Amino acid sequence: MGERMRVGLLGCGNVGSAVVRMLHDHAEEIARRSGTEIEIVRIGVRDPRRPRDVPVDSDRFTADLRALVADRDVDVIVELLGGVEPARSLMLAAFSGGKPVVTANKELLASHSLELFRAAAEGGVDVLYEASVGGGIPLIRPLREGLAGDRIGRFMGIVNGTTNYVLTRMAEEGLDLDEAVAEAQSLGYAEADPSADIDGHDAAAKAAILATIAFDLPVVASDVYREGIREVSAEDIAYARGLGYTVKLLVIGESDDGEVSVRVYPAMIPSEHPLASVRESFNAVYLEGQKVGPLMLYGRGAGGDPTATSVVGDLIELARNRVAGLGYGAPLVAHTPERPRGRIKPIEELSAQYYILLRVADRPGVLAAIAGSFAEHDVSIKSVRQEGHGDQAQLVLITHRAAEGSLRACVRDLGGLEPVQSVMSVLRVEAAEP
Ligand SMILES: NC(=O)c1ccc[n+]([C@@H]2O[C@H](COP(=O)([O-])OP(=O)(O)OC[C@H]3O[C@@H](n4cnc5c(N)ncnc54)[C@H](OP(=O)(O)O)[C@@H]3O)[C@@H](O)[C@H]2O)c1
Repeated sequence: MGERMRVGLLGCGNVGSAVVRMLHDHAEEIARRSGTEIEIVRIGVRDPRRPRDVPVDSDRFTADLRALVADRDVDVIVELLGGVEPARSLMLAAFSGGKPVVTANKELLASHSLELFRAAAEGGVDVLYEASVGGGIPLIRPLREGLAGDRIGRFMGIVNGTTNYVLTRMAEEGLDLDEAVAEAQSLGYAEADPSADIDGHDAAAKAAILATIAFDLPVVASDVYREGIREVSAEDIAYARGLGYTVKLLVIGESDDGEVSVRVYPAMIPSEHPLASVRESFNAVYLEGQKVGPLMLYGRGAGGDPTATSVVGDLIELARNRVAGLGYGAPLVAHTPERPRGRIKPIEELSAQYYILLRVADRPGVLAAIAGSFAEHDVSIKSVRQEGHGDQAQLVLITHRAAEGSLRACVRDLGGLEPVQSVMSVLRVEAAEP
């Protein structure tokens, strides 16, 4: 058994306290598998005097996070504070002091990954972040290691449990968005201010991290095209089901010969697609590799205990590398995308299928006028169905694959056509036509 690894923990909230408990409860297995004991020697929080239900002496808590990072009795930092500052400055201080960092901070990674990766490389140490995407689901390590020899052409994922819960309740109980969000809040699945989830910011951060690793290209959250689920109605979900589709908030990354597209939006997927069966707060990422083919990783995308599993897995990797004499700058996990290859495509260059819901006048000639508008913009209609009559008439259209720019121009023109009372929804349809 090598010398014990001494951890300084920043943050002891949902995830931090679960990490403390896991290291305590599974201490024997963890020591056996790491080849060394992993011990939490300091814990940094806002209020060190507040009683906390964790198996650790109260004198290990401190509010002086800088001193914790600089402490000579701390070998490794685990950052579970969340947010950009002070997490960023503390991580940079750890790297310059030669200490590796394990973090779950998607917000920070999705905005400052290059700065952090460079600082870690300069400090000769590693930064591990398995918990930053998909909570307890191993995603980063499979991409960086098991799949490192393949070329990932596409990933599609459900990485936000709150919105997946909301969409599941809308689909299965016919709730509208506000009712489903209120229910998610009462169960603790959604924050009092749910906008980071509902508007797709959380998913965009995770999409940026996944794309950075999958495509060796530094992608930040602001590079990700983003639409949330606010505009999705119970009606859209019901029509989708009738047509054989399920509506999900998807993160999608595609790479084609160095042209990379990364986006987040609610989309219809065929109900038989593996992602369609991912219900409630579960997460999954579906990958397509050139050699491996399709692959799906599924599990709990949030929660203290699942997320702690990923954090502790990263700690065990650091411990093993040290026991193996590799120190903390293990070349095994070098991943800085220093030489980016490729270009991030704007959304206008997307080609997709679309679902369009129109409220229309119910009289002869309407369909011909609408079809004319589609033809003019080179968008070909795959199916069209009328629902309701008279004042309630609606047209549900699905297109074949079309250019996003053409589709947008077509929708603009449809809105101005005399028999079209309103364009009620437009959603993309993914994974249906090649
Ligand atoms: N919760 C999840 O399911 C989940 C899943 C995946 C990833 N993550 C990520 O994991 C990280 C931690 O999330 P969490 O849910 O555990 O957060 P949390 O429950 O809010 O806990 C945050 C902890 O950090 C401390 N803290 C925050 N800002 C601080 C500051 N400026 N100075 C000193 N202490 C500070 C807090 O101290 P006090 O206790 O004294 O207030 C608290 O102990 C975030 O990056 C989050 O995105 C969370």
